[in-house]
Amino acid sequence: MLLLFCGNTRVIENEETRFVSHLLSQMTIEEKIGQLVQYSSKEELTGPRVSNKGIGIVSDVKKGSVGSFIYVDGAQRTQELQQLAVDSTRLGIPLLFGFDVLHGYKTMMPMPIAMASSWNEDLIKKCAQVSAKEAASSGLHWTFAPMIDVSRDARWGRIVESSGEDPYLNAVVAKATVEGLQGNSLADTLTIAACAKHFAGYGFAEAGIDYNTAEFSEQTLRDVVFPPFRAAVDAGVSTFMTAFNDIGGIPCTKNKDLFTTILRDEWGFDGFVVSDWNSIGELVVHGVAENKKEAAFLALDAGVDMDMEGRCYRNHLLSLFEQGSVTEEMINKSVERILKIKYRLGLFEDPYRYSSIQRETVGVYNEGTLAVSEDMARESIVLLKNENDILPIKTQNKKIAVIGPFANDKDVPLGTWRARAENYSAVSLLEGLESRLNGTKDIQFAEGCRVVNGEVHYKSLLDIEKNDRSGFTEAKRIANGADVVILAIGEHCYQSGEARSQTDISLKGLQQELFDEIYKVNKNIVVVLMNGRPLDITAINEKAMAVVETWFLGTRSGYAIADVLLGNYNPSGRLPISFPRHVGQQPLYYSKKNTGRPEKKGSTSIYQSNYKDNKTSPLYPFGYGLSYTTFSYSEISVNNSQFRKGESIKLSIKVSNDGFYDGTETVQLYVRDLIASITRPIKELKQFKQVDIKAGESKIVEFIITEDDLSFWHRQGGVYAEAGEFVMMIGPNSENHQTKTITYDI
Ligand code: BGC
Repeated sequence: MLLLFCGNTRVIENEETRFVSHLLSQMTIEEKIGQLVQYSSKEELTGPRVSNKGIGIVSDVKKGSVGSFIYVDGAQRTQELQQLAVDSTRLGIPLLFGFDVLHGYKTMMPMPIAMASSWNEDLIKKCAQVSAKEAASSGLHWTFAPMIDVSRDARWGRIVESSGEDPYLNAVVAKATVEGLQGNSLADTLTIAACAKHFAGYGFAEAGIDYNTAEFSEQTLRDVVFPPFRAAVDAGVSTFMTAFNDIGGIPCTKNKDLFTTILRDEWGFDGFVVSDWNSIGELVVHGVAENKKEAAFLALDAGVDMDMEGRCYRNHLLSLFEQGSVTEEMINKSVERILKIKYRLGLFEDPYRYSSIQRETVGVYNEGTLAVSEDMARESIVLLKNENDILPIKTQNKKIAVIGPFANDKDVPLGTWRARAENYSAVSLLEGLESRLNGTKDIQFAEGCRVVNGEVHYKSLLDIEKNDRSGFTEAKRIANGADVVILAIGEHCYQSGEARSQTDISLKGLQQELFDEIYKVNKNIVVVLMNGRPLDITAINEKAMAVVETWFLGTRSGYAIADVLLGNYNPSGRLPISFPRHVGQQPLYYSKKNTGRPEKKGSTSIYQSNYKDNKTSPLYPFGYGLSYTTFSYSEISVNNSQFRKGESIKLSIKVSNDGFYDGTETVQLYVRDLIASITRPIKELKQFKQVDIKAGESKIVEFIITEDDLSFWHRQGGVYAEAGEFVMMIGPNSENHQTKTITYDI
């Protein structure tokens, strides 16, 4: 075991293989099946409850019939349960404790869609490191993150857990998150195993309805859905999770092509695969298995190693084995994969190494972890509109009215999947402003209206408030006397997330009306949006002087927003997803195809691929975000306008900060393959670089282009680039660029 630290991978692998094979050779078939079973804690569920009939959790642990738990955490609790497994079972195989640590464990980082808006790979990695440290200090070994489903439909609630619409950006986030969570060694007690989810195509649920069928081509699967998952494998991710949906009639949880042919044989993934919550049992409901027994066979045969909450492996694998449909070899493979990860985590050396009450007390929720969350919160904010430079708030603007249902909310900024964050522990916007202003301005607050009524919980349906206008008068009164109004509106954090699909993505309840009423008495409105999906904000966007997208920013939300509003921080976030003008545009994404009848500017022909009742373009495009300064771009220069396979060329562009603030610009490179054997998107993000440029200064930004940037998947021959002309586009977002055409030859 000590060899784990000697840095010689071959020796480690041999040692690991020897250890695991030896252990496997001592295990009974019942003990082997036990390793493939995951239970949840009794109290917490993240999906419908599965019957516990005939199951005694404690007695099952003692028998060695459970390999893992979800939703059991805390140093003390994990220590106790681990002890039961280690002391009472014949071979003392330790349990694996997993938990959804999506954006922090106690210290809440911004939601993933917000973190992706930072486009800051290093900071995303740091947030994952902090989350891992907190979780690992509380007895956890494993998180069900990152969620890297490319998501293009704002009606789908889980967009908030994703990094948005683009495969490349999702891949960057996948790599950073896996590296941050797992560190250099899983055996480090401050790291945990990551899980790439949900494989595959879950973000393409038809009509944005959660769990719905996803229907798309193999080309889309390969070029759009896969890249983040491939990046996670390349970053050494330990586990994968199946997706609930079916593609082409095959529910992912029984898709052997996905989990065996592609993931393992093609990509070389050597970790294990866990089902999603009861997704093996749901094969029956999908109508592809007659009963749970058949479902268990189909999932194991596809390469799904662990059954989360489904009871299918627990109740049926033994009889499938006894009747000869499942071989011991099939079971061994899955057990081996799971034991390997337990070995890599160092659990055989010391099963209690993660359950440290001392580390849990000092390593969690402290100034250090909170500071990282605050940095990320600032960098996640996207400035969408800033007319007449109303922001940052000027010194002469002494009277500020802070209004809106989310203006003093200490809970909503924590978002969904909040692990062990204490409810109501976020810094509200009002608190943030008061603290940063420290009495230097006159701040007045009024809620104006509420978005939801009564009990709010992530498992309950929300009752939207549509009638109570009693707060309007006070809101208008304070707005009337203010120099500037800060209006915090959007959606409640439990309006997005799992099973939170919506047909209407406009501002719910009385929020639009509140805006209109305030607008009657004060036009200087700065809208601060809190939301988990792109909303239809067309109406307020026309009238508001400024719009600031903050998503759900986590524990230190209010400080971060105040810093941006007051100019302590120059906003640098960029949208990871297009903002629509109308829900009818969904799914909306920039990397569309040209079609045979593309929209032509200025043309009056009716025969164009566009809407006739609205613009086809987004309200705000992917990659978009303003700064308090302005950047300009020179033309692109290129060291060679042609290159061949195996070679590269260099593109350079001068980016100048023409304004009065130092700022960070995200320089984005998009590519278009002009003529190819199949239709290609009109642009695809291939690289980006973030540069800090001081006011009045310039920087040269360079991109090295290789075949990789021009490639796509081919049914025959895999991923490669075709010879021909390519348009290179460099600019501040997906709609605005300098261009240069280059030629690639094979
Ligand atoms: C979700 C997964 C999550 C699991 C366990 C499921 O409902 O789809 O993303 O990891 O529950 O909480």
